[in-house]
Amino acid sequence: MKSFILTTAIVITTLACQSFALPFEDDLSYTKKLLAQEPIFQAAQQINILSWEESYAKASSLVGQMTLEQKVNITTGVGWQSGPCVGNSGRTTGPDFPELCLQDSPLGIRFTDGVSSGVAGINAAASFDREAIRKRGEYMGQEFRAKGAHVQLGPSMNMLRAPEGGRNWEAFGEDPFLVGVASAETIIGIQSQGVMAVAKHLIGNEQETNRLVHSANIDERTVQEVYLWPFKQAVDAGVASVMCAYNKINGVYACESDYAINKLLKDQLGFKGFVQSDWSATHSTVDSANHGLDMTMPGDISFNSGDSYFGRNLTNAVRSGQVNEDRVTDMAMRIVAAWYKLGQDQSFPAVNIDSFRPNLDQHINVQGDHKDLIRQMGAASTVLLKNEDNILPLRTSGIKKLAVIGSDAGPNPHGLNCEDHGCNAGSLAQGWGSGTARYPYLITPIDGIRNRAGNAMDITEHLRDNDFHIAAELASQANVAIVFVNSDSGEEFITVEGHVGDRNNLELWHDGDALIKAVADANQNTIVVVHSVGPILMPWSNHPNIKAIVLPGLPGQESGNSLADILFGDVNPSGRLPYTIASKYEDYPAKIDHGLSFTYSEGINIGYRWFDKNNIKPLYEFGYGLSYTNFEYKNFALNQINLESQGDVEVQASVTIQNTGMFDGAEIPQVYITFPEIAQEPPQLLRGFEKVYLSKGVEQTVTFTFKKSELSYYSIDSHQWVVPQGEFSVHFGSSSRNIRGTQKFTLI
Ligand SMILES: *[C@@H]1O[C@H](CO)[C@@H](O)[C@H](O)[C@H]1NC(C)=O
Ligand SMILES: *[C@@H]1O[C@H](CO)[C@@H](O)[C@H](O)[C@H]1NC(C)=O
Repeated sequence: MKSFILTTAIVITTLACQSFALPFEDDLSYTKKLLAQEPIFQAAQQINILSWEESYAKASSLVGQMTLEQKVNITTGVGWQSGPCVGNSGRTTGPDFPELCLQDSPLGIRFTDGVSSGVAGINAAASFDREAIRKRGEYMGQEFRAKGAHVQLGPSMNMLRAPEGGRNWEAFGEDPFLVGVASAETIIGIQSQGVMAVAKHLIGNEQETNRLVHSANIDERTVQEVYLWPFKQAVDAGVASVMCAYNKINGVYACESDYAINKLLKDQLGFKGFVQSDWSATHSTVDSANHGLDMTMPGDISFNSGDSYFGRNLTNAVRSGQVNEDRVTDMAMRIVAAWYKLGQDQSFPAVNIDSFRPNLDQHINVQGDHKDLIRQMGAASTVLLKNEDNILPLRTSGIKKLAVIGSDAGPNPHGLNCEDHGCNAGSLAQGWGSGTARYPYLITPIDGIRNRAGNAMDITEHLRDNDFHIAAELASQANVAIVFVNSDSGEEFITVEGHVGDRNNLELWHDGDALIKAVADANQNTIVVVHSVGPILMPWSNHPNIKAIVLPGLPGQESGNSLADILFGDVNPSGRLPYTIASKYEDYPAKIDHGLSFTYSEGINIGYRWFDKNNIKPLYEFGYGLSYTNFEYKNFALNQINLESQGDVEVQASVTIQNTGMFDGAEIPQVYITFPEIAQEPPQLLRGFEKVYLSKGVEQTVTFTFKKSELSYYSIDSHQWVVPQGEFSVHFGSSSRNIRGTQKFTLI
């Protein structure tokens, strides 16, 4: 039983400290429209999502009529490229259960057209905007449904551990709490449209190098507090399916890991849906079945091998007594229940795409008005890292000549879509691999800037990277120069410019550092725009002529428009870094490991936790991002503290945020908690954030609730989550290192 003591006001208050002054009144003409936009998108339909209990009741009467062969059939994919989708499960007739269409990707529909290609997962996270992330899930779910895809193979939820990790951009960054919130909102959004979401990849798939064979060795506490955390949020959000990873976890392939699937996911988290393999990640019949795998994808042992670990092998394993038929019934129940849960028994559209035979694709346009939300999210996820002398927002009245420099500002000379985006040419707006979707179009930065500026300024462009001389000359003739650079990564089955999925380093591609230097040396109003899959090194960040650094990340099809919205002040930036940008590469806690078996030796000290614990100053910290206005934080309070009877704990903390600047805008108050020493946690852990829209002058009180899940640590002695006794500190910050106030409470 615990009780509370509120320690007397130990409150540290730091006021807003953005480094730039407010613009002069006469500059307001172009910026008075600054909007703190609420995301738009109306979901088209309301699906009645059943509880697992209701779904199992329905499934039980259907599966009860199935023979062993039929049950096995729905657990077994029909084979690579043997159906219209990237994965197709077997059907039954009498009773009838359809082939399910499982389709990539986490950001949109792969291998077809007429679809939206919006912001990447890492940008969704950078918005720190629960509502927008959910709406992103809704529009994606709507598109998958309209194409007849039962299952969207996303969200990607692996952690940004090594900053070079090739697929980091598909997922939500380095903090488990943020990844958990973004995953849950995405899943709820997708499933609200009656499409099954897939939480992936369970577990330890944090790099591409040797992903098919390496073992990620992760200690018990780290699994619980970091890598499993987002999967708990996904299960609690009702996710229909979970995908097991390619790699081994602690020496055992994830798709036959009793520990990962049975113990962690099904027993501990209570997952009721089905576990599907990553594509060809199944390595056995008996161990996989007995250890919890429910569906093998795409079905064949290796692509087009014509055989399977499930199918006849699984039937035989039941007949020979190596697998209990109850287990196969459970597999079928999980699949059929998920189908009922999402209402897919009620007039689900027929599949109308064909991933491998485009002539059979009906080319239905499912984009609706989703581009509006994509544009808003592109702006909402753009992180303003530096803004000196108030250079942004751009005031068209003061700029006669604007120079736009770098190939990343322009179109891809090889065409709009190279295969699975496995090329980095022109402006970067998504990474490469299976986690991609075809652009219907791409608004390039130069187009977006020209459209927005109209005739108000003379814009010159040089959309190349290596002619430093010409770039410098052009820059020297302009009032303001914007230089575009990028850094790309993706999945290991494609190598781009020597990067086999994972990045080889954190440097800009195409000699970006040299291009930036050439431009900045020539123009004292230089703005750097970085399209990047993740952290990069910025050795030029303190160059006195670089007045602004803008990080739009991977904004998708509306790239140029959403960038122009930020540059010209139509939208006030509110994106925050979902990862740490270090001053130097060596500062990061984890790197890509080229071994076949390696340990996550940083343990729970992933990302900013490592920097905090080791007192390493990052260049730009987790949670950081500037606004064109200022926000004051005040009235820090722990205003409601409840002790529930079973020792359950609940703390409510609140803070008032006031927009004290000149423009409307949104702020992202973040709450970091310092645990009592006995918990041996890193110095502080993110445990809450909200996005608050505030017109200038307006204030609003934001309340955060912390329960057992936010206030406990995983004890390796009791193998349980424990709420520790002692003093907790609740830090209210605008980033992980800009703490505006702290309140403390003690549990005894
Ligand atoms: C198994 O699934 C395939 C593909 O849907 C189908 O053609 C076949 O008839 C099914 N077999 C059984 C026994 O249901
Ligand atoms: C059963 O699995 C083995 C590998 O364990 C494989 O060689 C064989 O082709 C499979 N049989 C069928 C019918 O798929």
